[in-house]
Amino acid sequence: MSAPAINSTTDAVTYLVGQHRRIRELFDEVAGAADTGERERKFFELRRLLAVHETAEEEIIHPLARRAIDNGDAVVDARLEEENKAKKQLTDLESVDVGSAEFETRLAALREAVFTHAEHEETEEFNRLRAEIDGEELRRLRSTVELAEAMAPTRPHPGVESAKANVLAGPFAAMMDRAKDLISKPR
Ligand SMILES: [Fe+2]
Ligand SMILES: [Fe+2]
Repeated sequence: MSAPAINSTTDAVTYLVGQHRRIRELFDEVAGAADTGERERKFFELRRLLAVHETAEEEIIHPLARRAIDNGDAVVDARLEEENKAKKQLTDLESVDVGSAEFETRLAALREAVFTHAEHEETEEFNRLRAEIDGEELRRLRSTVELAEAMAPTRPHPGVESAKANVLAGPFAAMMDRAKDLISKPR
């Protein structure tokens, strides 16, 4: 009897595309939150996911794309430029009152930037990686790509002093730094 087929959908790229879907949903959930508390929680969840997602791309997927796809440097440099713009928009958004009209306007602008970026990744980078990289390697990379998300807590823990509980709490830039630690120094 043959071994069960390896689920070819569970590779690093598919995982990241799944995160793109969840990021889109979270933008809707932040915008549509019933009250300020709900909006705070959803906004935290969105920042957390963006931090672990963009970090996994920057640490693992973009370096691979540079090497493996035609014009890899140009493709990746363009993606990094989009990511850096979105990070700046997100950092600015963190200082705006979530209950204000300004928050909604800036959130909509960030959403547009993030959606466009994700679409470019999927069409110009991910699809080409799939064509160039061995499926087995992409499946192996999934566990590394998943690591930061698996370890990052899903809500902030104010006052809890455990290092793990505080991972990803705080402003977005600090979330990115900690996500990077999780990926590069797994414990
Ligand atoms: Fe990205
Ligand atoms: Fe992405």
